[in-house]
Amino acid sequence: MQTMAMNTEDIKGPIGVFDSGFGGLSILRDIRKQLPHYDYLFLGDNARAPYGVRSFQIVYEFTLEAVKYLFAQGCPLVILACNTASAKALRTIQQRDLPVLDATRRVLGVIRPTVEAVGSLTQSGHIGVFGTPGTIQSNSYEIEIHKLFPSYVVHGHACPMWVPLVENREYDGDGADYFVKKDVDALLSLDRSIDTVILGCTHYPLLRKKIEQYTPRDVNLVAQGEIVARSLEDYLCRHPEMETRLQKGGSCRYLTTEDASRFSATASIFTGEHVKAEHIVL
Ligand code: DGL
Repeated sequence: MQTMAMNTEDIKGPIGVFDSGFGGLSILRDIRKQLPHYDYLFLGDNARAPYGVRSFQIVYEFTLEAVKYLFAQGCPLVILACNTASAKALRTIQQRDLPVLDATRRVLGVIRPTVEAVGSLTQSGHIGVFGTPGTIQSNSYEIEIHKLFPSYVVHGHACPMWVPLVENREYDGDGADYFVKKDVDALLSLDRSIDTVILGCTHYPLLRKKIEQYTPRDVNLVAQGEIVARSLEDYLCRHPEMETRLQKGGSCRYLTTEDASRFSATASIFTGEHVKAEHIVL
């Protein structure tokens, strides 16, 4: 009988989507809307969220653990649906870890596609960015924006309370109004010419209504879900060698490092469909 050795490249697998917590579900929802026929495996490191206040080294280590886990589950491609992880871990994982782990697999982030999209939105060239303390301190948005648009003026503002408001399901509550108004005012007062504001954290679309309420109408608010989804579609068109490695069944599995039933209850609100998560240990 003839046997044939299988490369990892021959094995099909789901698209891995990673976030520190629930925020990445906002990206996953838009990706699945745009690309419904693929299988997805979502991993939320809820037990260790938020990442936004953690050091570079810790965010890198946690993110690498998650990527390795998703690779071990057979994902040929992993999307870091988390700005903090994209800012603090993506480059090192792409440049240092991937060649050792498996040079044929890919890890993509959310910052670059978002930056590519702002060029068509701003008139003034003055951009505001809301993000976690980690994302803002990393200056990743400013660095990436200046690579493509050197003349743009970029102001970042960290919103340390926004992720806890979302993770604790307080994004609709009155407490959220206080913090959202305070942070919107703080960013816009830095530069009256800001006409485009990036919601540079995947948790923030959940606060969008409140952010809109306190932001002048002529300021564009840029959420990342649709942008990342279109960018992924484009990536897969340009990389048929990756596209053919993706499983196409239209399914989605959810993994969390927190209690599974607790995750499932909140995740269902975010996704708008019944979620039955599985608990895992990283
Ligand atoms: N959702 C993540 C992001 O986009 C961060 C949330 C956190 O602080 O863990 O930055």
